[in-house]
Amino acid sequence: MAESITITDNRTGESIEIPIVDGGVRADEWAKLLPGIWFYDPAFTTTAAAESSITYIDGDEGKLEYRGYPIEQLAEKSSYLEVAYLLLYGDLPNQAQLDEWVHQITYHTFIHENVRKRFLEGFHYDAHPMGILVSAVAALSTFYPEAKDIFDPATRDKQVIRLIAKMPTLAAAAHRFSVGMPFVYPDNSLAFSENFLSMMWKTAEPRYEANPVLSRAIDTLFILHADHEQNCSTTAMRVVGSSHADPYSACAAACAALYGPRHGGANEAVIRMLASIGSIDNVPEFIRAVKEGHGRLQGFGHRVYKNYDPRAKLIRQVAYDVFEVTGKSPLLDIALKLEEVALADEYFTSRKLYPNVDFYSGLIYQAMGFPMEMFPVLFAIPRTAGWLAHWIELLDQDTKIARPRQLYTGNGRRDYIPLEQR
Ligand code: CMC
Repeated sequence: MAESITITDNRTGESIEIPIVDGGVRADEWAKLLPGIWFYDPAFTTTAAAESSITYIDGDEGKLEYRGYPIEQLAEKSSYLEVAYLLLYGDLPNQAQLDEWVHQITYHTFIHENVRKRFLEGFHYDAHPMGILVSAVAALSTFYPEAKDIFDPATRDKQVIRLIAKMPTLAAAAHRFSVGMPFVYPDNSLAFSENFLSMMWKTAEPRYEANPVLSRAIDTLFILHADHEQNCSTTAMRVVGSSHADPYSACAAACAALYGPRHGGANEAVIRMLASIGSIDNVPEFIRAVKEGHGRLQGFGHRVYKNYDPRAKLIRQVAYDVFEVTGKSPLLDIALKLEEVALADEYFTSRKLYPNVDFYSGLIYQAMGFPMEMFPVLFAIPRTAGWLAHWIELLDQDTKIARPRQLYTGNGRRDYIPLEQR
């Protein structure tokens, strides 16, 4: 059987055979037969917009790999910074490379005082921390104008290090400002996740010592969120990156895409849903309402996974570890019951709707004391590694500027009518 498709233009009888390569057919081959006829695919549901060697997902099997390494092994054995290196440079670092990488990241955790004084402190007192983060990341580009030199490898590396290093500082600063607490400077004697928790929670103590179970939980969650191939925010990064904007501006666009409730905001929606259900006795009624089209079961379903999201399985375990320290979330029983009822219901199984990464992550964040507004911010910190890995890949591939076509459905040509005649 040939690994190809044949397309016939019924208007002319002309045919073209297009090979299937890496699971796809090339649109430029299609264009040879049908110039001016566009694929209509508004949400990219059947369009591969990039070739990528970073992350592999098998949605039917529920598999996720970074650079070929299964997510389960990385979550158990690796650290977020090691995973960030893997995503960015393609291979796991040796000891010397890891030491240098960790040193560089640690060395760049501080933000320019004016980022704090002029930008962060300029926000309204109740500003949403994700709004602060989006703006602060964009503002960084004005502090590092050399970042525009995107084809110089050393300059590019410098901005990658700065962005990964400064995201936790900006994230924690956004939180502290939004709750009226003073900014906490990074403590560079601490590891990446511990340092983040210190900047979040430190009050009067000279040195903040995070509970090791909680800092490991955060590190694991960072690993699980570090990349997820061509998701909405990564696509935003690639689209803006394709115009050759500097990486801070492209990253701010990616952060903005992550802000939406269909993407980085879904774990907040899960908590609100669980709280509104209120008790496990109300679960069957809630499921019935969802099946009748009244709202969605938040934290369920995924564009790519048609099986249990492998990250959800790992996060479920992390939740139990965290609850050992923090005490169990009263919403956990409702979540477990929802999962049990939904996975036994034909509506969900026939549509292949399974728990996704957000079903349990919000419960963990809430148990650790993070306000819901911080949930997308917690997602943005590690996803920065993925965004930057895709940005570098895009530049190395020397891709054209992203510029889709449209199917025009508006008015035909008409003449301007003066205001007084309308
Ligand atoms: N609850 C109830 N029904 C659902 C759900 C859900 N969570 N998700 C999908 N469906 C139904 C949907 O109504 C449709 O049914 P029908 O064929 O009868 O019309 C069918 O399943 C297919 O849904 P879809 O909307 O075409 O699927 P999609 O691939 O466009 O949407 C999704 C994917 C994640 C937006 C969606 O499943 C959803 O809204 N889930 C809830 C929000 C959520 O948990 N988002 C986090 C996604 S993972 C993290 C991330 O990517 O940031």
